[in-house]
Amino acid sequence: MISLNVNGESLQVDVDPEMPLLWVLRDVLGLTGTKYGCGRELCGACTVLVDGQREYSCVYEAKEAAGRAVTTVEGLSPNRSNPIQKAWIKKQVPQCGYCQSGMIMAAEAKRREGAPGREIANELHNLCVCGTYQRIRQALNTLK
Ligand code: FES
Ligand code: FES
Repeated sequence: MISLNVNGESLQVDVDPEMPLLWVLRDVLGLTGTKYGCGRELCGACTVLVDGQREYSCVYEAKEAAGRAVTTVEGLSPNRSNPIQKAWIKKQVPQCGYCQSGMIMAAEAKRREGAPGREIANELHNLCVCGTYQRIRQALNTLK
């Protein structure tokens, strides 16, 4: 059993300690907002926050998350009050949407570090097959 805190909820999961956190979130907890892309720390589709830091959940083992606060896109702001989410909605960023939860979580990690929108845009290296990069930059530029 591994004790986790996911989106503010304390819970225990009976999984292989080395199972990637991504599969715990998606297959065990049903939090399917976090996506699988490459499985190799390349695309960022699987990005979540662990104690506020950006992590690739495809390679982050479940045991590493024990006792830490995991935040997925579902728990970012259920009322959509988060500035990144609001900017995304304002600029209608997503196309297919597959990469977007990872994009938002990666941007949120930088925002929490105090980075301004323009800097976040410059440092966001997640991949988007649909090519929404221009709208992502526009959305981030609306942030103060
Ligand atoms: S699925 Fe984790 S970085 Fe691509
Ligand atoms: S919106 Fe389709 S992959 Fe990014």
